[in-house]
Amino acid sequence: MNIRWLDTIDSTNSEALRRLPELPHGTVIAALEQTAGRGQRGNTWFSEPGRNLTFSLVLKFGPEGLPPASALPPLAAADAVRLNYLASLTVARFLQDQGVGCTVKWPNDVYAGRRKICGILIENALDGAFLASSVVGIGININQRDFPQLANATSLRCLTGKEYSLEECLQQVLAHIEALLPALHEGQRLFADYSALLFGRDVNARYHDLLTDREYTGVIQGVAPDGRLCIRDLDAPGQPLRYYRFKEVGFIL
Ligand code: BTN
Repeated sequence: MNIRWLDTIDSTNSEALRRLPELPHGTVIAALEQTAGRGQRGNTWFSEPGRNLTFSLVLKFGPEGLPPASALPPLAAADAVRLNYLASLTVARFLQDQGVGCTVKWPNDVYAGRRKICGILIENALDGAFLASSVVGIGININQRDFPQLANATSLRCLTGKEYSLEECLQQVLAHIEALLPALHEGQRLFADYSALLFGRDVNARYHDLLTDREYTGVIQGVAPDGRLCIRDLDAPGQPLRYYRFKEVGFIL
């Protein structure tokens, strides 16, 4: 993979999207500082300059038969959820290498205990029923010590007491991505490994159904093969399991 380190940029995802046509498959845009880091649901991603990993990986999907260095084989848009699994698993494996146990809060926040250590923002472009490209944006809190704006954030430094080289951490994360990339086209493997890491599985907790604006106690049963989160509603016994797409349910932590 071809890493381009920037001192400062508004957002590595925005930069990758602006320059997408000219950026080769496998380009990684990493920044020491993001002035307008973007999170899911239009949120801002806050990261202390020079202390954390903030980067975006450009993936391009080609017609069958292109050399692997220039594009991945075609991937159906219906299978795009596998990119979530891949990115979450990559970060989880990197953290496990550092001795930090973690879970993945659906769809793709990585948690250490009850604190968030990584956020992922994936932005896809489609070509009909297939993916044309994907910008996989990953922010991992590495050396930051304090999170004044964020009540439930943590970093590797907070958890292990050690300082890390951002360059080395990025290399390690990318090695995990490379190892997992072939599984994107394999179906079940990423799904099974992701499911095993699911935050809140088999635990009673409060959820907010955003479709009906109702809060209830439920238990996550798992993730459906299409990526929907499956929750048993304990306040409505006898009702069918509830299935949610992104932005249809909130965790009350
Ligand atoms: C979230 O948890 O809401 C997703 C956060 C994603 C943050 C990363 S940092 C690198 C990349 N560039 C961005 O602007 N966002 C992603």
